[in-house]
Amino acid sequence: MANDPTVTIINNANGSRHEYPLKFGSLGPGAIDISSLYRESGVFTYDPGFMATASCHSAITFIDGDQGVLLYRGYPIEQLAARASFLEVAYLLYYGELPDEKQLGEFEQIIMRHTMINENLKDFLDGFHYDAHPMAILCGVVGSLSAFYHDSIDVNNPRYREVSAHRLIAKLPTIAAASYKHYIGEPFMYPRNDLRYCANFLYMMFATPCADYEPSLIAEKALNLLFILHADHEQNASTSTVRLAGSSGANPFACIAAGIASLWGPAHGGANEAVLDMLTEIGHVDNVPKFIARAKDKDDSFRLMGFGHRVYKNYDPRAKIIREVCHQVLAELADNKNPLFDLALELERIALEDEYFVERKLYPNVDFYSGIIYQALGIPRSMFTVMFALARTVGWVSHWTEMMSDSALRIGRPRQIYHGSPPRDYVPISKR
Ligand code: CMC
Repeated sequence: MANDPTVTIINNANGSRHEYPLKFGSLGPGAIDISSLYRESGVFTYDPGFMATASCHSAITFIDGDQGVLLYRGYPIEQLAARASFLEVAYLLYYGELPDEKQLGEFEQIIMRHTMINENLKDFLDGFHYDAHPMAILCGVVGSLSAFYHDSIDVNNPRYREVSAHRLIAKLPTIAAASYKHYIGEPFMYPRNDLRYCANFLYMMFATPCADYEPSLIAEKALNLLFILHADHEQNASTSTVRLAGSSGANPFACIAAGIASLWGPAHGGANEAVLDMLTEIGHVDNVPKFIARAKDKDDSFRLMGFGHRVYKNYDPRAKIIREVCHQVLAELADNKNPLFDLALELERIALEDEYFVERKLYPNVDFYSGIIYQALGIPRSMFTVMFALARTVGWVSHWTEMMSDSALRIGRPRQIYHGSPPRDYVPISKR
C-alpha cells in the first residue's frame, strides 16, 4: 500500500537504495521485512543470536521486556497464574481461546486418555545407564515416540497434528516420572486417569507399589502454578529449535525432542538446576559478596545463574510471582526456615543494589526461585529441567502447530558470512 511505512537501506559500497516495508503486529515494535533484500541488493543481514530479528508471525504469546509484561493469547500471566488450571492454559495456548466448561471437560478427558505409554517404551527406558540424567532419558524417549505413532505421521493433516499434540501433552508427565523412577531404581508407576493432570504427575513420581499415596493439594497447587508460568515464552531458543526442526516437515515427536535438547543448556532451562548448585556452593550469606564479585569479573566464567534475560530488561513477571508463592508454599509445607531461600533473597537484594547489575538491567528470571519450590516439593535437582520441559511442551506443540498451519511456511535456512579458504585445487596425499 502506498502509505505503508517503509525503511530505505542504502548500500554505501555501490550507492544503491532499496526500500522495505515496515510491518507491525497488534502489539510491540515494528519489523523491517527484508525477505527480498538478498534478491534485490545481493547482500545478507548479519545478526548472531537473533538480537534484532523476528523469525515469524505468531499470535500465541507476547512479551514486553522493558515493562515486564507477559501475555498468553492476550491474557496477563498474573491472572492466569492466580485463577486458571494448567490444562485450561494448555487449551488456551493451543486453541487460542479460553475453553468453556464443556470444552475444558472434554479436553481434560482426551489428555488423560492418552497418558499411558507403549509397554515397549519401558524396555527402552531400561536400556539407559542406571545414573543417566533424566533430561538425557527424556530427550531420547520423546524422540523415540516417532517410532510408535505411524498412524498420525502426516504433518500436513491438521487432525493428525492435533492428535500428536494431545499425545505429547499427555505422555510427557508419564515419561518424565518414568525417567525419575529409572534414575532412583524404583518401579515405574502407571498413570491414574482419575486424578487431575498435576496430581497424576505427583502420583507417578512419588507413589510406590508398596504403600498408599495421595498427592497433597498444596503440592498440586504449586505444581499447577509453576507449569502455567513455564508453559510458553514466545520465540526462545528451544521453541525456535522446534520451529526450525519442524520447518523441514519433520515428525513432531522428533521436533519436541530437539526442543528438549535445546532447553537443557544452562543458559536456558538448565539454569534452574544450576541455581540450586550455585546457592549450595555459596553456602552462606557471608559469601554472597565474593560470588557477586566473581560474576562481575570478565576473567571468571562464573555467572549469577537465574539472573539476566535476553528480552526482560525489568523484573521477569514470572520470577515475581514465584518469589511471592515461595513464601506461601514454604510456610504451608512447614519449610519456612529454608536456608537456600533466605540465601536467594539476600543474593537478589545485594545484586539489585550493585551498579554492574543495575546498569545491565539484570534481574532474577523464572529459574531463580523455581528450584526452591521444586525442592520443597521433594523433586530432586536433576528433575528441575525435566519439569520445565514438561510444561513447555504445551508451548512447543502450540508453536509447531501454528507454524505448520501457516500457508507462508518455508524451510528455515539461515545464511552465513564465509571465512574459510578461497577455491583451491586438490593435492594428492603423497604431495601434502
Ligand atoms: N551474571 C553476570 N553477568 C551477566 C549475567 C549473569 N547472569 N547475565 C548477563 N550478564 C552480563 C554479560 O556478561 C554482559 O555484560 P557486558 O555487556 O559487560 O559484556 C551483559 O550482562 C549482557 O549479557 P549477554 O550475555 O550479552 O545477554 P544475553 O541476552 O546474550 O544472555 C542470558 C541472556 C539469560 C543467557 C544471560 O543473562 C545468562 O547467561 N544468565 C544466566 C543463565 C540463566 O539464568 N538463564 C535462564 C534464562 S531465563 C529462562 C530460560 O530461558 O530458560
